[in-house]
Amino acid sequence: MPISYDDTSRTFHLRNEKISYVMRVLENGTLGHLYFGGSLAESGSYGHLSGGEYLGLSNRLGEPIALEYPTPGIGDFRVPGLIVEQPDGSTALDPRFVSHRVFGGKSAIPGLPSTYVQGYEEAETLEILLVDTPANLEIRVFFAIYADRPVVTRSVRFRNVGSDAVQIRCAMSATLDLPDSDWEMLHLSGAWARERHVRTRRLEAGSQAIGSLRGASGHQHNPFLILKRAQTTEESGEAYGLSLVYSGNFLAEVEVDEFETTRLRIGINPEGFSWQLDPSAEFCTPEAVLTYSESGIGTLSDAYHSLYRDRLARGVWRDAPRPIVINNWEATYFDFDDARLVEIATAARDLGVEMFVLDDGWFGQRDSDATSLGDWTANKAKLPSGVEGVARRIEALGLRFGIWIEPEMVSQRSQLFADHADWAVGVPSRPHTEGRNQLVLDMSRREVVDHLFGVLSDLLGRAPISYVKWDMNRNITEPFSPSLPARRQGEFFHRYILGTYDLYERLTRAFPQVLFESCAGGGGRFDPGLLPFAPQAWTSDDTDAVERLKIQWGTSLCYPVSSMAAHVSAVPNHQTGRTTPLATRAAVAFFGVLGYELDPGALNDEERKAVADQISYYKARRELFQRGRLVRLRSPFEGDGNETAWMTVSDDSRRAVVGHYRVLNRPHRGPARLRLRGLDAKATYRVSVWPTGDDRVSKANTGIRGGDELMRIGLLIASDDPLDSRLAGDFTARLFDLVAEEPASQSSR
Ligand code: GLA
Repeated sequence: MPISYDDTSRTFHLRNEKISYVMRVLENGTLGHLYFGGSLAESGSYGHLSGGEYLGLSNRLGEPIALEYPTPGIGDFRVPGLIVEQPDGSTALDPRFVSHRVFGGKSAIPGLPSTYVQGYEEAETLEILLVDTPANLEIRVFFAIYADRPVVTRSVRFRNVGSDAVQIRCAMSATLDLPDSDWEMLHLSGAWARERHVRTRRLEAGSQAIGSLRGASGHQHNPFLILKRAQTTEESGEAYGLSLVYSGNFLAEVEVDEFETTRLRIGINPEGFSWQLDPSAEFCTPEAVLTYSESGIGTLSDAYHSLYRDRLARGVWRDAPRPIVINNWEATYFDFDDARLVEIATAARDLGVEMFVLDDGWFGQRDSDATSLGDWTANKAKLPSGVEGVARRIEALGLRFGIWIEPEMVSQRSQLFADHADWAVGVPSRPHTEGRNQLVLDMSRREVVDHLFGVLSDLLGRAPISYVKWDMNRNITEPFSPSLPARRQGEFFHRYILGTYDLYERLTRAFPQVLFESCAGGGGRFDPGLLPFAPQAWTSDDTDAVERLKIQWGTSLCYPVSSMAAHVSAVPNHQTGRTTPLATRAAVAFFGVLGYELDPGALNDEERKAVADQISYYKARRELFQRGRLVRLRSPFEGDGNETAWMTVSDDSRRAVVGHYRVLNRPHRGPARLRLRGLDAKATYRVSVWPTGDDRVSKANTGIRGGDELMRIGLLIASDDPLDSRLAGDFTARLFDLVAEEPASQSSR
């Protein structure tokens, strides 16, 4: 059994072959944390690892005690996991262990997305009940351990068992105390058009934190962090991962105290947050997903990829091959009519594209971003036969049809705003700040969510729509809901996200066959919280191949390739002005859910043929690209960042594709090798190179190679022919396709 309890020492041990998580009820009833790391023997007893009784301040003279859910007012001066303001205004809290239960599987969290199981044997859950008697507060902490994954999930449920309301001011989903501080903190930070760049820093005394206060997880930071040893690499060394299944304001913080111990916490950002818990009411935190690896960051990523792809994403699109789309945004912006759309779709269909996505501009009076959000009926000047008409014409071409919407927004110039100005978020007595000429709808209000469900289900019910790109293009500047009383305004941001999840939940249930893609000005809400509804997200508005190397690399630390939409766009690139070869743009986008975001009619014959070849190359390996195991080989964040390499490997290691990318060409380079990983050392592979040519890299690598050679010696990558303009110059990419030979033909090596 993955969860055991030793009654004598009151010790809990959650374990599988990869990890152990050990806690103990201290003598005074406080829940102490003993260990999280590599797997320990099931028979071992670990109660001696803690001092026994948490004595508060006097105990500070000795070793600090690791706590499972630290609170203020008990002499622990580190950042707390929980703050609750009680009717007398005090915040001291000392929850004590009351009982526990263990059950097979995993429970859902009301109103919030979470990872799940498909059979009770996949995971076991420990529910621990803590009670703070003076505060009349029950705290149920849920720990689930998966049988075969290095993963522990943690969430908390509060219940007020008193007769007065209390205010929750901070409710972290997880805290984790570690006995030393010799760690580096790795996080994903950036901005619009350069999301999720890898940042690494040594831990220092005091607090270091990332978070969001903008109403969405944000472009700036991601609800994910890793602690790693300085020497930890992709393939070796210790690392912890913390990820939050949440799309709103979050905090991920690491504190190092005077004893060089480390406390991590992750959860809803306490800044500006409070939640009034009425008598008998419950409050649930989002789920935190904790991982541990002693074999490098690659193992952490593997754990998150397979968990989020297979047990967070859900519905028919979880496992289904994702279609190759053409999106008209960068081809037309707001300037199109149905004839133009059909023209783009026809040209794309002829190249092998499978779905046409109609982006912004199809509704209301929307000829620029100044108007019409909220008026989700077709612009008759552009689409005389409505969305249904154009959708049916596109379907008649043999393509599926998808559409862009931005349901959470409203333009001041719109019918919706004329009818319901009070639905826009803002403080009535103050100006409402516009972002991209728009306001945000108050998703904390039931009637707003109901209205949107009505409008969108009508749209999806009437037209043959197979895909929805759900955008969200601005953050919340004046958080306030007139529907909430003064004492509850601190609930606004969380209620907004609960409303958004509710709308997603209702729409995905009503239209299970529709593929949803989330988007927020590109990757401004790329987080685990949306994956149950939208198994893929628009990774970034930046489609430049060079910029995408960093964005996709960083994103891949936590998120599976199947969640990253990646499009080939025109050059000069609309975000950077950079001109990269068409093959490079494709070779980057292949390591994502491939699409095109350009006018196929503007391609010349050679380019059209190249795109058709790309699409058939991708289709022949779609499963491998979308669901293979991603192995990161060479980081754009290390050294001078000039090279990037990664590969995708099938579960049985019989197929792989390696991508190698060079930003600037450097003259007079010597030979160089790229060692692969994840292959079968005993197998032999037929290697082919794409784009192929009569150049030295193609010649040196094409043929039969042993898995041992490819992993121990590597591919030969540094000798492109400087005179072959297709293969040299800047911004080049090569793909190496590996197919294991059948055992019978191994003698041909
Ligand atoms: C956002 C999205 C883009 C596009 C535009 C349309 O910026 O990220 O992909 O859909 O909105 O306005």
